[in-house]
Amino acid sequence: MVLLAPQHQGYEACYQAVNDSLKRFNLDYFDLYLIHWPGTSKTKLQDPVNQENRMGSYGALEQLYKESKLRQIGVSNYTAKHLQHLLSHCSIRPHVHQFELHPCLYQPEVLSLCRENSIQIQAYSSLGEGRLIQDIEIPALTEIANNLGVTKAQVLLRWAIQHDYAVIPKSKTPERVKSNADLFSFELSDQQLAFLDNVHQTISHRFCWDPTDIY
Ligand SMILES: NC(=O)c1ccc[n+]([C@@H]2O[C@H](COP(=O)([O-])OP(=O)(O)OC[C@H]3O[C@@H](n4cnc5c(N)ncnc54)[C@H](OP(=O)(O)O)[C@@H]3O)[C@@H](O)[C@H]2O)c1
Repeated sequence: MVLLAPQHQGYEACYQAVNDSLKRFNLDYFDLYLIHWPGTSKTKLQDPVNQENRMGSYGALEQLYKESKLRQIGVSNYTAKHLQHLLSHCSIRPHVHQFELHPCLYQPEVLSLCRENSIQIQAYSSLGEGRLIQDIEIPALTEIANNLGVTKAQVLLRWAIQHDYAVIPKSKTPERVKSNADLFSFELSDQQLAFLDNVHQTISHRFCWDPTDIY
């Protein structure tokens, strides 16, 4: 997976950036290429140029997809408003949308749009950058992990997988990398899923950037 940096937004710049990266990696194609952010570097949040540029970038991704240089294309950090605009103008629907998603951040409109348009949801910060494990006490999470005899990280990742969200947890600790991938020997019950689904009503957190104000 490769992401387009916000300074390379716009048709020409994006087309060039993808080709430059392919050359640098000595590859014929990338499996997945995403527009990292709906905005453009050094551009005011409310400037309509943000929309113009990201539509240009998406047009370049569509072209590169047709040229078989990208196997799958998509976006990241789009709000429902950004995604709706894209869906009403694109010729190839995004294959993937990557955004912050965990029991403390619920984004129902974006989730519905992805589901209705068969866009694979890819969650990032599933562990809240580690803070949902270490700093923030979520009683339902601790109880479920204890009952199942697994780690809190495994419960958070399993919650995502059972909702069909792809996950990309990060760790530099080998034992954690191993246990974070060990998600298929247990299952959350409907009741346990529902407990976690409701966490955001009492404990709400966004750990990463918020794209809401970008035109
Ligand atoms: N598209 C975007 O705009 C965007 C934004 C943010 C992140 N991402 C991507 O999403 C991926 C992961 O997200 P993230 O870094 O935000 O956070 P994350 O996966 O939610 O959390 C990573 C942190 O959790 C700790 N951790 C991992 N496994 C653990 C475990 N089993 N028990 C306790 N702590 C554990 C790690 O510490 P140790 O390393 O010390 O184990 C690390 O500090 C990355 O690949 C990142 O590039 C994308």
